[in-house]
Amino acid sequence: EKKKKENKDGKKNDDRDLQELKQIKQEWDLLDIMSPESTLDEPSYSNQNVGDGFAKPVGGYSAVRQDVIDMVLTSNQAFWPADILPPDGPNYSGLLIRLAWHCAGTYRTSDGRGGCDGAAIRFPPESNWKDNKSLDEAMQLLIPIKEKHGDKLSWGDLIVIAADAAIISMGGPVIGFCGGRIDFQNGDQSLPLGPSSIQQQFMPCGPEQCPVGEVCPGCESPLGTAAQGLMYVNAEGTPVGEFEGTADNIREVFARMGFNDRMTVAAIGGGHAFGKCHGPCIEDEIIETFCPDKDTNSYEPPYTWEQKYTSGLEVTWTTTPTSWDNEFFNNILDFTWANITGPGGRLQWEPEEVTAPNIQMLTTDLALVYGDAEYRMISQEYATNLNSLTADFGTAWYQLMTRDTGNRQRCLGDELPPIQPWELAMGPLGPLTTPKPDYIPVRSAIQKSIDEKPSNIAAFATLASQCATTFRSTDYLGGCNGAAIRYSPSIDWPTNTGAVDYLKLLEPIKDEFSEVSWSDLIVLAGQTAIEAAGGYPMPFCGGRSDSDKGDKSIGLEPRIYNNNKYDSIMYDITNKGLSLAEGVALMATPDPIIAELVNLEAGVTASTRANKSTYTLSNQFFVRMNETDEDVMEWYKGDIADIGEQFINDNDYFLEQYSKAYTYLMTADLFDGPTKNACQKVDDPTIQGDTPKPTDPPGLDDDGD
Ligand code: HEM
Repeated sequence: EKKKKENKDGKKNDDRDLQELKQIKQEWDLLDIMSPESTLDEPSYSNQNVGDGFAKPVGGYSAVRQDVIDMVLTSNQAFWPADILPPDGPNYSGLLIRLAWHCAGTYRTSDGRGGCDGAAIRFPPESNWKDNKSLDEAMQLLIPIKEKHGDKLSWGDLIVIAADAAIISMGGPVIGFCGGRIDFQNGDQSLPLGPSSIQQQFMPCGPEQCPVGEVCPGCESPLGTAAQGLMYVNAEGTPVGEFEGTADNIREVFARMGFNDRMTVAAIGGGHAFGKCHGPCIEDEIIETFCPDKDTNSYEPPYTWEQKYTSGLEVTWTTTPTSWDNEFFNNILDFTWANITGPGGRLQWEPEEVTAPNIQMLTTDLALVYGDAEYRMISQEYATNLNSLTADFGTAWYQLMTRDTGNRQRCLGDELPPIQPWELAMGPLGPLTTPKPDYIPVRSAIQKSIDEKPSNIAAFATLASQCATTFRSTDYLGGCNGAAIRYSPSIDWPTNTGAVDYLKLLEPIKDEFSEVSWSDLIVLAGQTAIEAAGGYPMPFCGGRSDSDKGDKSIGLEPRIYNNNKYDSIMYDITNKGLSLAEGVALMATPDPIIAELVNLEAGVTASTRANKSTYTLSNQFFVRMNETDEDVMEWYKGDIADIGEQFINDNDYFLEQYSKAYTYLMTADLFDGPTKNACQKVDDPTIQGDTPKPTDPPGLDDDGD
């Protein structure tokens, strides 16, 4: 309030504003302070598994939902007056749905980043996105609920629950809830979403920062949005006021978060069944987020809801913005639309018919009927069949909220819907192998095969690495569980050259121990090989089950970032959730092709090749890198070379980092491993051990409650 008054007096000062904002945020002590840009080197282990040990809110998630209904949705607050919407009066439901959609809608399938897990929308860069205006206020509304439930409720879960509560309260469909989002401590994890220097480095977009609302060259996948600072598309259209280009743009950017046409139309039209847009005055007239009072031309509090400014568009889509229905689609189809400049000075649409109710549309809304034949058919279906819209919106909303949280085994709470189509491709969802096989004789058989043919060391180690390397900690996709490496698409990737042959080497062992899954066998063979090569003994965690197809790897092919290998390696390491040292260590995995080259260089003949020492795991790999040719120098430089140097000076450090990284990657996709005891503990000391424990997630008290 004080700040607004000062601004009104013309004392606006951006630096001071920032300071004050920081202070306000500190005082609230819940939204955390803004963080400066920092590197992405830190491993995100704490994000790994959630499991049953994670504390849930008292009374469960349904109690939180009820609190939102009782305490927030219709309780007007002076700092951000609720919209007065027919027929019910003050209502924050639309705002809270928009908050969750903007929190979750950053998700992109390209690298698994974005989404509401972590609640990164609380921090820059996301909180600064032009499209995220007024969402600070939405989060402030939720602070009493956060305070009531404390650490047992993450901001990520709360934001989703609040929107679910809003949808339910208005009669809309919510098909389930997956709890367990873990909050980030700062916005670093979404720096690659841009705008930021990290994003410009790895996935540059436009020569300079891309002007807001414009689709700039280079702003393509892996970026989630074609225009920076916007949630996907410019509401005024791309180009402004034109339906066809706008529809194309919507299709392109919604596909980047894994949405097909039906889900896209259902999400936009279903979302805009609720609430309204805010642009009652032109931007020059606003102070902070309030327009001058229409009657008195003053900015004095108490402000009214009609003074609130957000997007600059002044649109209410339906006559019932607090009830679930398909009026949005009927309105688009029933009226003839004329474009006008709204009171906020931006292009929007109103019906030409004088008898029409007081409704308006965005260019992006009309593009769902007038911009594309496929979209039009779907819109027509929803206009005539509310059940169809209800079913599709329910599914689309659940996917929107949940996709980035990964495999459903990570979900907390007892409100999961039936398995959704997008979950089927994520890997084994069924029970892990039971009863657990005895891994000791399996390991002996692997060891025997290595003793007989030392080149199997490189083959097994590489196969396990190829199998597990698809894992990414950003959305928990990929990994060796399921052994998708046996099928297309991953078996065909150039990076998996040789995998067919390596699998053949394991076939006799698989035949002998049919009770052991392929994925367990691949991991155990890799581990046995690494240890035989001189790696530190590692814990083994068994219990994987196999898929009968390779869908788990779809879309996870290694990507080239910024057209250079160095950047690609660096980015890939962070996406996996490895520290830089761990990621660099894994490069030294014995590899049959490299081993063969080394053999050739050293003049090793077929008879001497039987010597195991050719296949050792040691810092010698990095010594060789230092001496190697220019092709390799393209990526063996910078931070990678620095770490290589440290490894050269300290082999123990290298081996330690290697075994940490290897164990992590092989177990990263066993989501119920640590808590549900899926991991086999066996008596043989060489393979005994616990699954690496993830750092305790926030919310555990001393008793582990
Ligand atoms: C509000 C654009 C998709 C839910 C808005 C506003 C704009 C907008 C400009 C007004 C913000 C304000 O001034 O307060 C778009 C565009 C979309 C899109 C361009 C994609 C093409 C979605 C989706 C959902 C959604 C997928 C939810 C599933 C909402 C809701 C509001 C809203 C509930 C009302 C907020 C309130 O009442 O305060 N949208 N939107 N939108 N949007 Fe969307």
